[in-house]
Amino acid sequence: MQIYKDYALDRLHTFGLKVKAKQLIKVSAVEEVQALSRMDLSQVLILGGGSNILFTKDYEGLVIKNNILGKEVVLESDREVLLRIGGGENWNDLVEWTVGNGWGGLENLIAIPGSVGAAPVQNIGAYGVSIGAVTVRVEGVFLESGKREVFEAEACEFDYRSSIFKTSLKGKFFITHLVVRLTPAEFHRVNLDYPALRNYLHERSQTPSIKSVAEAVKTIRESKLPNPEVMGNAGSFFKNPVISGEQLAQIKKDHPEVPSFNEGTDLHKIPAAWLIEKAGWKGVKRGNAATHQHQPLVLVALSSAAKGEEIEALSSAIQQSVKELFKVELTPEVNIL
Ligand code: FAD
Ligand code: EPU
Repeated sequence: MQIYKDYALDRLHTFGLKVKAKQLIKVSAVEEVQALSRMDLSQVLILGGGSNILFTKDYEGLVIKNNILGKEVVLESDREVLLRIGGGENWNDLVEWTVGNGWGGLENLIAIPGSVGAAPVQNIGAYGVSIGAVTVRVEGVFLESGKREVFEAEACEFDYRSSIFKTSLKGKFFITHLVVRLTPAEFHRVNLDYPALRNYLHERSQTPSIKSVAEAVKTIRESKLPNPEVMGNAGSFFKNPVISGEQLAQIKKDHPEVPSFNEGTDLHKIPAAWLIEKAGWKGVKRGNAATHQHQPLVLVALSSAAKGEEIEALSSAIQQSVKELFKVELTPEVNIL
């Protein structure tokens, strides 16, 4: 395996910043990942599509770029389709392939950038569906020992934008393959829980199907989110906060209109975008960093001269302001390095 030195990362992450890695290695087979245990792994970054990472400086350690490919139909019956996918495959290509084959389960997750291997890391979710819902197992390698391991879905600790791979195993376990269970069209029930999606199809009198849901989600996403090819970004910069009934009641005193979604007994999710907009940060520019004018939860790099530090400084200012105004902590969804 070739080790590249001072490797430019501009094209390897969606903020598109001018940063480089001290060392970079590309892996395209499980055995190559296992062989890494013989290397100095004191500072390691596993890299997929770089769509959930903010580099604030050059990376001083070893970047391991996941290029493990392969799409395998493990089982196909009337009722289910099991797929085993290489972690280096492009996520959206996978979704388009499943939609094209009439297999349901991933259609709400169309047009999310990044790799298959990173999908379980933060349990990617959109329009009412998270990858945890269709995951059978996650396969990979512990980097230190080179030992292979399989995590059944229950062991992955999937939660909102979280899993064991983003918490205790972060940077330690390299995901090589993902196995998902999908459903053939005849038996698939599309998920229309997300109001914006349901309304979109209803307003256009479209029959809900795997294909129409995928097309609707794609169109809605294009209307809201900036294309990283045009304007560097990593999607939602923060998670939507989950707060107590008491905190919500406090906010409602001054803002009875605050949107909220009950998440069980006394927990309420509120849109971070709403908090950020109310705090006056929508469309605000600070140097080469800004919040997007249509979706302030997305922080963008305004030019190729943007620095990660500028984006991080803007994110900290937003956190502080939202904390002061609403007593709510915004936690970054993006991995800040
Ligand atoms: P990277 O950014 O390369 O890595 C992310 C993290 O995962 C890092 O900590 C990395 O070390 C780790 N990692 C990557 N690959 C592996 C692996 N094989 N094994 C172990 N760890 C690994 N996310 C959503 O959930 N929903 C959305 O709707 C959504 N929309 C987005 C829209 C835009 C425009 C953008 C730019 C991003 C969006 N995201 C969304 C965030 C992002 O696309 C996802 O988090 C995606 O899964 C990241 O994949 P990646 O391959 O780019 O990961
Ligand atoms: N809103 C505002 N002002 C705005 C935009 C939105 O107040 O300018 C409020 C509105 O109340 C709106 C609400 O925010 O109803 C939610 O907005 P949106 O539907 O755009 O979704 P989101 O909560 O901002 C989340 C995910 C997205 C995912 C979409 C669709 C998080 C952190 N983000 O965004 O995921 O695609 O829902 O399911 O959960 C990502 O993780 O990178 C990402 C893009």
